[in-house]
Amino acid sequence: MTPEIEAMIRVDHAGEYGAARIYAGQLAVLGRRESAPVLREMQEQERQHLDRFADMIARRRVRPTALLPLWHVAGFALGAATAVLGERAAMACTVAVEEAIDAHYAEQIAALDDGEAELRDTLSTFREDELHHRDIGLQHGAEQAPGYRLLSAAIRTGCRLAIRISERV
Ligand SMILES: [Fe+2]
Ligand SMILES: [Fe+2]
Repeated sequence: MTPEIEAMIRVDHAGEYGAARIYAGQLAVLGRRESAPVLREMQEQERQHLDRFADMIARRRVRPTALLPLWHVAGFALGAATAVLGERAAMACTVAVEEAIDAHYAEQIAALDDGEAELRDTLSTFREDELHHRDIGLQHGAEQAPGYRLLSAAIRTGCRLAIRISERV
């Protein structure tokens, strides 16, 4: 396995870990609101994504990022903070995160050849799920969240930064 492949698995594991924590944070605030069932549905899919990468980390002996404790807190905080702003802001968070992840997975898929078919297929499947989450966010009024453009840009920048850091550390 090349260092590049190892970095891919490391960052994707970190990202899915963070995603599951974002939904945990959102549900801590919005657990009884109208959007709770759809948040739970997305959280469940993130758990499946996380399980798959956790399995890959173990099987292929990839070192996980040292920053899992940070993403544990930061993911939950991002989810809870956007949820406190309202259901539409929570959905705006999902849309922004998924846009960043979509670009990230597309980049990785393009870099993989048949030697890494399993990883490539996994990423393609997960990317579809993430795009579905983005669409759910849009259908639930993400773009009507107060300060949508600023919020969205800030979260996308944060995600890209988290990706770059998790590949290396
Ligand atoms: Fe995911
Ligand atoms: Fe997602």
